[in-house]
Amino acid sequence: MKFLIINGPNLNLLGKREPGIYGDQTYDALCAMISDHAEANSSTADFFQSNHEGAIIDAIHAADGVYDAIIINPAAYTHYSYAILDALKAVSVPAYEVHISAIDRRESFRAVSVTAPACVGQVYGHGFKGYLMAMDWFLEGGK
Ligand code: DQA
Repeated sequence: MKFLIINGPNLNLLGKREPGIYGDQTYDALCAMISDHAEANSSTADFFQSNHEGAIIDAIHAADGVYDAIIINPAAYTHYSYAILDALKAVSVPAYEVHISAIDRRESFRAVSVTAPACVGQVYGHGFKGYLMAMDWFLEGGK
């Protein structure tokens, strides 16, 4: 499968950003882990990270017809970006939402995802492994 992995704001600072919540591994380490998992499953993964809402929307639009699946961590946009929700709804490529932290056990605003309704599934609270779990959902046929 061809995966596009989209990460939103501040995830470029993984490793240095609130390590007690997000761990001490870097964004590059996350990408390497995902690439290894893709390769082990005869798949490919491309990566897109941006701190800008419009750039993320453009990447979602550009993915249509190019990728089999999007794995997206919209980061803080999860909680209020109706524009990203609409972009995910506008394309036919299915998306799975991932959060590194347990968003249900933090500030109450984090428990709400406005983007998840446009996704085929959501995983949170499993650290970096959540990205692989989302990939596996597609690799196992989306059940
Ligand atoms: C996050 C959770 C969000 O609430 C937060 O704004 C992030 C990261 C996560 O992966 O746990 O930036 O999406």
